[in-house]
Amino acid sequence: MTIKPVFADATPLAHLPDDRAFLEDVLAGFAKPQKTLPAKYFYDAVGSDLFEQITRLPEYYPTRTELGILDMRGAEIAAALPRGAALVEFGSGSTVKVRRLLRHMPDLAAYVPVDVSETFLRSEAAALQGDHPALRIAPIAADFTQPFALPHDLGDAPRAGFFPGSTIGNFEPTEAGRLLRQFGDVLGEGATLVVGVDLVKDAAVLEAAYDDAAGVTAAFNLNLLTRIDRDLSGTFAAAAFAHRAVFNRAASRIEMHLVSRADQTVTVAGHAFAFAEGETIHTENSYKYTLDGFRALAAEAGWSPVTVWTDPERLFSVHALRLG
Ligand code: TRP
Repeated sequence: MTIKPVFADATPLAHLPDDRAFLEDVLAGFAKPQKTLPAKYFYDAVGSDLFEQITRLPEYYPTRTELGILDMRGAEIAAALPRGAALVEFGSGSTVKVRRLLRHMPDLAAYVPVDVSETFLRSEAAALQGDHPALRIAPIAADFTQPFALPHDLGDAPRAGFFPGSTIGNFEPTEAGRLLRQFGDVLGEGATLVVGVDLVKDAAVLEAAYDDAAGVTAAFNLNLLTRIDRDLSGTFAAAAFAHRAVFNRAASRIEMHLVSRADQTVTVAGHAFAFAEGETIHTENSYKYTLDGFRALAAEAGWSPVTVWTDPERLFSVHALRLG
């Protein structure tokens, strides 16, 4: 079996050279009263490595808890998916999670990992193929937030989707709803979707998960400034900012900020920006849902609840949904 990434033509990955788009996003974000930076720029080589470390931190419960649910309930979750399905993973990254389902799905028609990083997609697909020689793997290099077409030759295999990691929580609820609806458009009527969703809990547990004692999440957040300095001739000194993670209970989200440690002026590609001491750049949200809250969001996007699995401490949830 050869693995050939499919390039969905409806999915322009970059309209502008990378640094131009980055600069435009930074300037637009800094022009707002509450300065912001888009979270997608976290993931350069250093950031991706730091993120990998975050998932293994003692305070960061989501990854190991979700893996625990997939390990304990993998057979049941797989049984909620139709036999002979084509399984599409949105933002596949490393294949550690889907492997927990694949081992219970010997009759899968195809596994379709979708990821924006073609290099990563290729290497992960090759590794997975080594462990599942009979599985048809049809990778798609695409940004899953934009519409894309599935391979034409999946035939009438029933469609299933997989979206783990509580990545849904990194979208504003209206955007999250829009994304779930788009997954439905890609998969089609009657599809099943398995989504990992982090749950509302104690603020202290949440805040520790996003502000660990070893400072890895802080380094991950501050790396955005280092990246601006390197790629956009910025004059940020990352040490002049501090990482802050707060649970905003009214909005039900963890907010990550970079806090200016002093009054300072920073330039980015020749544009000057003033920061007051204590002023923040808002870099990321991670929304936390109740079981019912997430079901309501999914229902708005056309998905009906089938089953939900949680860990014994109810830290994290895995939902199976059906379109229609
Ligand atoms: N979606 C996961 C979460 O919100 C992982 C993640 C995305 C994350 N961005 C992050 C974790 C920033 C820590 C910091 O938890």
